Amino acid sequence: MNRRERRAAAKRGQPTSPHSAAMLGTAFRHHEAGSLADAEMLYRDVLSTEPRNVSALHLLGVLLHQTGRNEDAVRLIQKAIGIDPRVPDFHFNLAAVLRAMRRLPEAEAAYAKAAALKPDYADAHFELGNLKAAQGKFAEAAASFERAAAIDPDHPGYLNNLGLALRELGKADDALAQWQRVAALRPDYHLAHMNLGLAHKARGDLPAAEASLRQAVRLKPDNNEAALHLTTLLVALGKSADALPLRDIVARAVSEPWLRPLSFEPVPAAILKADPLIRDGIEQTLKYWPQMLPITMLTAEKGVAALASNPLLIAFLESGPMTDTALECYVTALRHALLDEARRATPEAGPPAAELAFYCAIARQCFANEYVFAFNAPEEAIANELRERISSALRSGDAIAPVWIAAVASCLPLRTLADTDAMLQRQWPEPVRALLVQQIVEPREEDELSKTLAVLTAISSGVSSDVREQYEQNPYPRWVKTSPPPAPLSVDDFLKRNFPQARFDPFAPKDGVDILVAGCGTGLHPTISARRHPGARVLAVDISRASLAYAARKARELSLDNIRFAQADILNLADIDETFDIVEAVGVLHHLADPWEGWRTLIHLLRPRGFMLVGLYSDLARRNVAAARQYVKSGNYQPDVQGVRALRQAVIRQPEGSALHSMTRFIDFYSISGCRDLVFHVQEQRTSLPEIEKFLTDNGLAVIGLQVDAPVRAAYARRFPDDPAMTSLANWHVFESENPDTFASMYNMWLQKR
Ligand SMILES: C[S@@+](CC[C@H](N)C(=O)[O-])C[C@H]1O[C@@H](n2cnc3c(N)ncnc32)[C@H](O)[C@@H]1O
Repeated sequence: MNRRERRAAAKRGQPTSPHSAAMLGTAFRHHEAGSLADAEMLYRDVLSTEPRNVSALHLLGVLLHQTGRNEDAVRLIQKAIGIDPRVPDFHFNLAAVLRAMRRLPEAEAAYAKAAALKPDYADAHFELGNLKAAQGKFAEAAASFERAAAIDPDHPGYLNNLGLALRELGKADDALAQWQRVAALRPDYHLAHMNLGLAHKARGDLPAAEASLRQAVRLKPDNNEAALHLTTLLVALGKSADALPLRDIVARAVSEPWLRPLSFEPVPAAILKADPLIRDGIEQTLKYWPQMLPITMLTAEKGVAALASNPLLIAFLESGPMTDTALECYVTALRHALLDEARRATPEAGPPAAELAFYCAIARQCFANEYVFAFNAPEEAIANELRERISSALRSGDAIAPVWIAAVASCLPLRTLADTDAMLQRQWPEPVRALLVQQIVEPREEDELSKTLAVLTAISSGVSSDVREQYEQNPYPRWVKTSPPPAPLSVDDFLKRNFPQARFDPFAPKDGVDILVAGCGTGLHPTISARRHPGARVLAVDISRASLAYAARKARELSLDNIRFAQADILNLADIDETFDIVEAVGVLHHLADPWEGWRTLIHLLRPRGFMLVGLYSDLARRNVAAARQYVKSGNYQPDVQGVRALRQAVIRQPEGSALHSMTRFIDFYSISGCRDLVFHVQEQRTSLPEIEKFLTDNGLAVIGLQVDAPVRAAYARRFPDDPAMTSLANWHVFESENPDTFASMYNMWLQKR
């Protein structure tokens, strides 16, 4: 190359010497082989002599993105584009980096540019489609996937994602047809079979759904999602025993953060109950209930070791209050066996490690449900005796059998023992150590956090004070795990995704959103809100300091630093000098002296065009709860641990199908705080959709959508085809009259301030 040619090459961003071309080749080989440090060094060497070398700029940019240095990656790739804007790959990779940085409009533009420069760039159309779908723009996504599939009709992923976009657009038949096409084209493509299975299931064709999901799992046994869908379907079909081979996957789904355990509750319980050992143990337990049986009868002579090797049982016990009465009775009987064994154990001779771990899992369950299980006087006596043994050994320095700790922890919280500091200082096997963390260390952390909470308003006397007292004693809900973080979405995209046909004024705040979660309880709700929108700033208030402290501990555990927790009474919130883009109050207003006044206060704090999520009890859906509340009153059951336990046992004994027994279908039935919330509440008001509609009209709120499950949406769409946006509360009122359990949890609705 002569000097002029070199200058021209440099201007075009091409290598100007064979040496740098060779070095670039070597760098690229390192890059491809995953030797990123070597590749980076060589790219930088090339750029030190040829700072305009577009290939080096682009590839180093890609490498920086791979190693998490996105700002620099964007700078370098943009520089390459500035020198040579015609290379489609530069735009494609720039889009990928921008997307990772959640600069979505710019990422969209960059993918579109790549596709414009190279109209047959199938992957650019495909990724553009994925980006649009992630933002809830399913029609545009479908168009992009169609373009990609037209370019490369044999690519299964393009058609598969086209099916997903069509499904979101409500075109279930077209989606099904796409997946059938893919399955015919590529019978080994497991995702098509999984989606086919889900499509068949949505149409109610359960045998076809089962066949497709089985095929998906057969093709890819480690497709956890397909395995979970298959398990769920098998359980719904009453074929839980067929799901037993999938037990370990379900155990992982319960113990790792794949799914929020509560949403998955019936599945692990059903699989556990299908296990012959547990099934027989439950049968024996129920036959003699409430008499407690020896471990041999509970385990078909096999002993507790046979249960201790069941990972699903352990994961289930540890994941939070379990919600199944048969399993509850069985675990209550196993706890009795634990007490028996602990009484006999000495520091020198206790159960082997696996059995101790199992017993500790029982204790974790008991703490999580606040000791809601039946508890008889002889058991209390054993627990007290063991507590004494532990205390005296702590005083004298004698050895303590770890199983004593597990046994006591399964009957009362360890923090109530004397000399917890001495207990923490000793060496323990890992499962016992975890119990001490759950029952001593974490509650202490909450005490500390409680001291730091700001007070925003006074607490009104009367109802607010009484309600506060309830939640100080029993913070609600007692959650252990939450769902994995959702893909962050803008507020508009989130609402579009949930209510595709809804009409509302788009919002598009410039720099994140201010959210108020009013009555945040123990923080499950604000943690979800805080992770939903990028840049969200959340203020979470509640009247109960104990609830707020639990919430603050969990937020810390999840490394969330965008939530401020503070004590406030909703009825006095008008005094604070703040407004919000979003206000959320779920399961709260109906506990106020005047729910409508509380609601108006929250509207006052909402900025114009701001959004509101409100959850209120339905009078119709809670008719059985109202009857149960009456039963509690007339039976003079007290809102304390003994009263709740007594009431629960009375409910469990009721005939199945009776109004009272239907309480066992509520998740809240399975913990002390839940039960108090469900049927012992000091203040519960219920309402109806016509009442709500009048309030919305009077107070300038428009309905965006009601949160209901897909089958309910589908049924409503069939019943009221003229209301595609599904926002007519008058129609919903008719629908609810015809299907009185529709809003069994609550009327949860998104609204916009006009
Ligand atoms: C049933 S819990 C719901 C908690 C949370 N929103 C959830 O859905 O998980 C009701 C919460 O509202 C709180 N609360 C009741 N009345 C309140 C009031 N006047 N001001 C603030 N919080 C209140 C209670 O302390 C309790 O934590």
